[in-house]
Amino acid sequence: MVAPTIQSTGTATDTGTTGRRQRVFSGMQPSGNLHLGNYLGALRNWVTQQEAYTNVFCVVDLHALSLPTDPVELRANTLELATTFLAAGIDPAQTILFVQSDVREHSEAQWLMSSVTQFGELRRMTQFKDKSDGRDDVSAALFTYPILQACDILLYDTDLVPVGEDQKQHIELTRDIGHRFNTRYGETFVLPRPDIKPEGARIMALDNPLKKMSKSSGTANSLIYLVDEPDAIRRKVRRAVTDSGSEVRGGTDKPALNNLLTIYSLLSGRSVAQVEQDYEGKGYGAFKGDLAEVVVEKLTPIRERLETLNADPDEVRRILHDGADRARAIAGPKLDQMRDRMGLGI
Ligand code: AMP
Ligand code: TRP
Repeated sequence: MVAPTIQSTGTATDTGTTGRRQRVFSGMQPSGNLHLGNYLGALRNWVTQQEAYTNVFCVVDLHALSLPTDPVELRANTLELATTFLAAGIDPAQTILFVQSDVREHSEAQWLMSSVTQFGELRRMTQFKDKSDGRDDVSAALFTYPILQACDILLYDTDLVPVGEDQKQHIELTRDIGHRFNTRYGETFVLPRPDIKPEGARIMALDNPLKKMSKSSGTANSLIYLVDEPDAIRRKVRRAVTDSGSEVRGGTDKPALNNLLTIYSLLSGRSVAQVEQDYEGKGYGAFKGDLAEVVVEKLTPIRERLETLNADPDEVRRILHDGADRARAIAGPKLDQMRDRMGLGI
């Protein structure tokens, strides 16, 4: 049984089938510093779409437990990621921002949904295959991870899930098991659509444009962190590989240039064609010099706000606890409904 097929993106004017304001949910694991790929592929879209939707954003610390984690580091990374969201422009006045483990409904819902998820479905998940490949300590949590992700989304009647391309399969699974629950137990869940922006969905490593920019597999020069100082950014951009030739023009045989043009375009707001035109006859050196300044200009305010917020962690904790209260008010009744429909409780 497969959920009805879907369009992969939504628009702000889309009111869905329910006629209410569309709800957006997304989450990110607290696994260390965010990089430009996370920002351009996910966080930036969360921030820019914030006013058009009702938003719920979550630091998914339970998901982080699926790989070996140090408790002290996990707690520090959780606070740091939430602080980075705020520094990048997530506004707690219009958005529910919370830590996944603070809302225990997610864990209970996961067990309930695991009963409508098939082993074979989980085995097909490419993220599981990638993350388990070559490890001899693969946890059951890594395998059941997509069920928890599905619950994150389904508990909030989510319409749209803004994520990078790599998460599409998990959103499809969410729809499939949500649909299966609805069929078996009665209409309970809204079936969400992934919101994947084609531009920025895959920012590539600066030293290898055939590999995704990634903190787990990246070398020091392959990624730009949101907290990088201007000089580090300039150095990394200068060292970024380029394709053969000297003209600033993308194309199917120019993966490195395409990546740099995408970054430039997304951060400057100019289209790739406009950027190509701006650099006609100017060569790679001038282009990379200016690209570095565009990145510095966009990341500096985020880094500075981060420093300010870091000085007051209790305020960030207060925002997260308030977010958890607001999240619980939505997830609690939904979980009660699930329990009731499944015949739990007497
Ligand atoms: P991760 O760092 O893998 O936990 O991913 C967090 C979020 O950032 C997810 O929504 C990913 O799809 C997105 N993301 C991660 N790396 C990239 C990348 N290189 N390009 C675009 N989006 C990315
Ligand atoms: N699996 C997502 C990732 O690796 C993180 C995540 C967990 C998530 N729960 C979510 C993303 C719910 C969107 C919605 O990036």
